[in-house]
Amino acid sequence: MALNLKGKSFLKLLDFTPREIKYLLDLARDLKRAKYVGNEIKTMEGKNIVLLFQKDSTRTRCAFEVGAMDQGAHVTYLGPSGSQFGKKESVEDSAKVLGRMYDAIEFRGYLQSDVESLAKYSKVPVYNGLTNEFHPTQILADFLTIIEYKDTLKNIKLVFAGDVKNNMGNSLMVGCAKMGMHFVGAGPKELWPDEKLINECKTIAKETGATINFSDDLKKACKDADVVYTDVWVSMGEEKSVWKSRIQQLKPFQVNKVVLNEAKSDMLFMHCLPAFHDLNTDVAKDIQKEFNLKEMEVTDEVFRSKNSVVFEEAENRLHTIKAVMVATIGK
Ligand code: CP
Ligand code: NVA
Repeated sequence: MALNLKGKSFLKLLDFTPREIKYLLDLARDLKRAKYVGNEIKTMEGKNIVLLFQKDSTRTRCAFEVGAMDQGAHVTYLGPSGSQFGKKESVEDSAKVLGRMYDAIEFRGYLQSDVESLAKYSKVPVYNGLTNEFHPTQILADFLTIIEYKDTLKNIKLVFAGDVKNNMGNSLMVGCAKMGMHFVGAGPKELWPDEKLINECKTIAKETGATINFSDDLKKACKDADVVYTDVWVSMGEEKSVWKSRIQQLKPFQVNKVVLNEAKSDMLFMHCLPAFHDLNTDVAKDIQKEFNLKEMEVTDEVFRSKNSVVFEEAENRLHTIKAVMVATIGK
């Protein structure tokens, strides 16, 4: 059957077939090349997109803004303050209003149920720019980056180190299951994903040839890994008080040279960013004062090593987010 994503929302990878995900990755590659050589065709002229952010962002916001503008569309940014959303006006009512003015809605916030409700009530495509549960546009950028370096996703072993139950751990696990990859979540058992989601991924994996495993030993988990991925130990929206226990739980899961020696020599180090790899941020300075840590989820050495592809990955947010918009609302 012909593949058609027009009018569809992008809320989580579970809603997409492997072929649809592959299509979005191929389209992102085409759009990246077109931008590089200067022959990009604008398919979104006259379209208006609203970007609704309850949480901060650099990459996601910029990727939506630049992607939309490259394609001829206009954007409105509504930040964590300054709109009625969620405070004086319900998600349902806001969705009905925005759906009458805009051709698509991007949402970054707390609840996955909110992004799902926006799609239900607005009747226009809605894009999930991160919720507590999932960060699906990030996975497209990660997978495009892996393809650029490894030519394929099939049979790639990807280890996610840290808070495996966070939006990145959940989404990478789903993405790996869909694309026939070997996912290993490395972290303490109490931070592994929800059992129901793990089982859903294992069911998908049976069809795609993927494997889904977990380990509480990062060094062992990294054996022969193609990709080692990590993320912050405390995510946006979590209480500051969580830092203490999280540091205790996740210190043994820091990505450093010792664990990477177990991975393949041409392994890729990946991180969705922002990362705490030095003391050049306010948060990192506060953590150092309180817990005497100068690096957190990844050492500066690994972050800056030749295996690190984090900035290519960040650039690919633009091309993949643009692909999602072009596929769903482009001419
Ligand atoms: N990776 C990512 O989503 O970055 P931002 O928080 O800067 O959007
Ligand atoms: N887990 C992180 C991802 C940031 C892109 C967070 O939610 O803060």
